[in-house]
Amino acid sequence: MSSFASQGASAPPAPANVDVTAIFEQISSWHQRWEIFRGVYTPGRNPVSTLLDGVGLPKDLRGCRVLDVGAFNGCFSFECERRGALEVVAMDLQDPRDLGFDALSKLLGSQVRFEQGSVYNLDSTSLGEFDIVLFLGVLYHLRYPLLALDQLRKVTKGTLFLETLVIDNRFLDGQKDFQALRNYHPALENVALWQFYKGAELAGDHSNWFGPNIRGVLDGLESAGFSPRLQSTWGDRAGFQAAAGGPGTIGASYEGASDIVRKGLNL
Ligand SMILES: C[S@@+](CC[C@H](N)C(=O)[O-])C[C@H]1O[C@@H](n2cnc3c(N)ncnc32)[C@H](O)[C@@H]1O
Repeated sequence: MSSFASQGASAPPAPANVDVTAIFEQISSWHQRWEIFRGVYTPGRNPVSTLLDGVGLPKDLRGCRVLDVGAFNGCFSFECERRGALEVVAMDLQDPRDLGFDALSKLLGSQVRFEQGSVYNLDSTSLGEFDIVLFLGVLYHLRYPLLALDQLRKVTKGTLFLETLVIDNRFLDGQKDFQALRNYHPALENVALWQFYKGAELAGDHSNWFGPNIRGVLDGLESAGFSPRLQSTWGDRAGFQAAAGGPGTIGASYEGASDIVRKGLNL
């Protein structure tokens, strides 16, 4: 294995005559913390290196096409570019100027391409297929999570790396307290569950819709035609790797067998 493969590429020195702090201050929506230049970190709280270790992303991405869905500031995409990816596409619902993506891209001289769009509209005809798809911190924000997994499967030819909140130790009970599922019954950890939040019950945040347990994520991925495995857990989060392949189970359903549904959902 080359030294690049074992260590990954490290952050370059900050460019001379550029006031990085002043550029950071112009960006109002910070989410990610990443070593953009040696010893210089973006001011968000979501730690890029911790999450990428959590999902087990290889250090060497040379030759890979990468898609980062829900890219936000873009630091995961830029890190993939730093790891040598052949091509990186960053996708998010939001405008890349509002996310600070454009400013960071310019600062880095990055070739990452931003596509403003939704996971529900992923299309392999226009985007092609990807060796690596990142789907980090997005699943529980979706009102239609299984549809998203079906769409991700269409553009994944290699591996999906997924990170999410999981409820195994964070099931919200009727009293609005958090409980471990095993405290209700040890068998519940082996039952696929997706807890629904109709409002802002989870963390006071209206953007949270479904909290799955680990079994729920694994079974959801499998039903979409992936071969998934749990990579690691930390706190109330878990990282998964899901290889493209496997029969999936949607085809056996009314919806999966229906051209009307498939056409309507662009499946
Ligand atoms: C909590 S942030 C996670 C950002 C990043 N992946 C990370 O882990 O730091 C969720 C992101 O998902 C994006 N998002 C939400 N729904 C989406 C959808 N349907 N399609 C694409 N992106 C979506 C949001 O705009 C937001 O940038």
